[in-house]
Amino acid sequence: LGHPIFHYASIGSTQAPLKEMAAQGRPEGAVVVADEQTSGRGRQSRRWESPPGGLYGSVLLRPKLLPRMVQAVNLACAMAMGDALAELCGIGCEIKWPNDILVRGRKICGMLSEGAVEVDQIHHVISGFGVNLKVTPILNDPLTEATSVAQEGGKVPSRHHLLSHFLKRLDFYLGTLRMTPKYFMETYASRCCTIGMRIRGTWGDNIIEGTAEGLDQDGSLLIRLEGGDVAAFSAGDIKHIR
Ligand code: BTN
Repeated sequence: LGHPIFHYASIGSTQAPLKEMAAQGRPEGAVVVADEQTSGRGRQSRRWESPPGGLYGSVLLRPKLLPRMVQAVNLACAMAMGDALAELCGIGCEIKWPNDILVRGRKICGMLSEGAVEVDQIHHVISGFGVNLKVTPILNDPLTEATSVAQEGGKVPSRHHLLSHFLKRLDFYLGTLRMTPKYFMETYASRCCTIGMRIRGTWGDNIIEGTAEGLDQDGSLLIRLEGGDVAAFSAGDIKHIR
């Protein structure tokens, strides 16, 4: 992963060029990074403020996995970035399902995955990552507070160093996901602060509330509902509630 790397001083969104490359059949591993984004995108159609001072990038993945494992690829990205931040910056990170990275409950990195599946395999996934290094942009999400590596007193790594560490870890976790999926899910669960929490999940107009108990084999969140039933939640946003 990371061959080649395309660098932009400024771009709308790093996701865009990779979408075209994916459609044109470019193999796995291409990366786009930018010093700033003018229309960075977050999950749930939110904006992602991307001023200079953060790492904004996207990677093209073509994992040889079943279509239903797209969510699991998201989880692998979160683990990889969590490792990279902990190892290079010396800050303790937790993962909020599926792929927000939090430090002391505040968001330091957000990830956005967009992909396409074929009947029997994932066609491609474009995973975008926005990491707050020196700046703490405002999150367009009233219920989440942001932080940055600098604000947490961590060592601010060079963007190149952080990117290459992330890609190395991502390669490793995608391998683990393919070879030993059960072990992968156990490792993810041990890093995920959502497990054990009461949560509210929303997708579209639907709301689900309960206690996050674990993950199923695809990486969906298993939620114990009031009545005792367990539901698998795979798409949408969740909030941790009391
Ligand atoms: C979120 O938490 O809502 C996801 C944020 C993802 C932001 C990154 S920055 C690089 C890539 N390009 C984008 O437009 N978005 C992602």
